[in-house]
Amino acid sequence: MRLVRPSEEWEREHKAYVEEWGPDRMVPSSFSLAGFDSYDAYLVELGKRESGTGQWLPCTNYFLVNDRKRIVAMVDIRHELNDHLYRVGGHIGYGVRPSERKKGYATLILAMALEKCKELGIEKVLVTCDEDNIGSAKVILANGGIEDKPELNTDEKVTRRFWIALGNGGDNDARS
Ligand SMILES: CC(C)(COP(=O)(O)OP(=O)(O)OC[C@H]1O[C@@H](n2cnc3c(N)ncnc32)[C@H](O)[C@@H]1OP(=O)(O)O)[C@@H](O)C(=O)NCCC(=O)NCCS
Repeated sequence: MRLVRPSEEWEREHKAYVEEWGPDRMVPSSFSLAGFDSYDAYLVELGKRESGTGQWLPCTNYFLVNDRKRIVAMVDIRHELNDHLYRVGGHIGYGVRPSERKKGYATLILAMALEKCKELGIEKVLVTCDEDNIGSAKVILANGGIEDKPELNTDEKVTRRFWIALGNGGDNDARS
């Protein structure tokens, strides 16, 4: 299994994943292809988003790909926290292809994303989930999450918040 960055090489696989995901809101939303005229247009927009243009803070997106070049999960890593991310979004968002769930891939992609966070120098990683997302809470706990106080998201739903210390020293949970 490996993490790869979105590029034209993955267009077909990405589209197949989105099709399998169906009409539910894509998680993470940065992998949604809705509203783009072409895959190139999506990649251009993603590039802007990743470099932290406009409303976006810098982030990096990865697909988790198996040996048969099938995308099984997706993750985005936000390099910093603003107020919204501090309260509900967190540093990392991930989703697993519906047909690939309950095989340990979310646990794996979060572990691999934490390695990327280490390389970025993030010392304390915030990962969140909806109160009713039992699977995601298990994934975060399996990766060493320590629960902090919950917050209400914009839909008035309770968001559980967990910190994962990466042992780089210091304290890096400040908002930008
Ligand atoms: C939540 C989600 C990421 C879990 O992915 P996954 O690959 O199935 O998770 P894993 O296989 O690593 O499972 C980890 C644990 O959670 C459990 N689990 C997974 N989905 C579950 C569910 N729907 N209900 C209860 N437990 C669940 C697994 O059985 C496993 O438990 P175990 O460690 O006791 O064996 C996936 O269902 C998904 O993509 N959901 C939609 C998007 C989403 O919610 N993303 C997370 C946003 S915070």
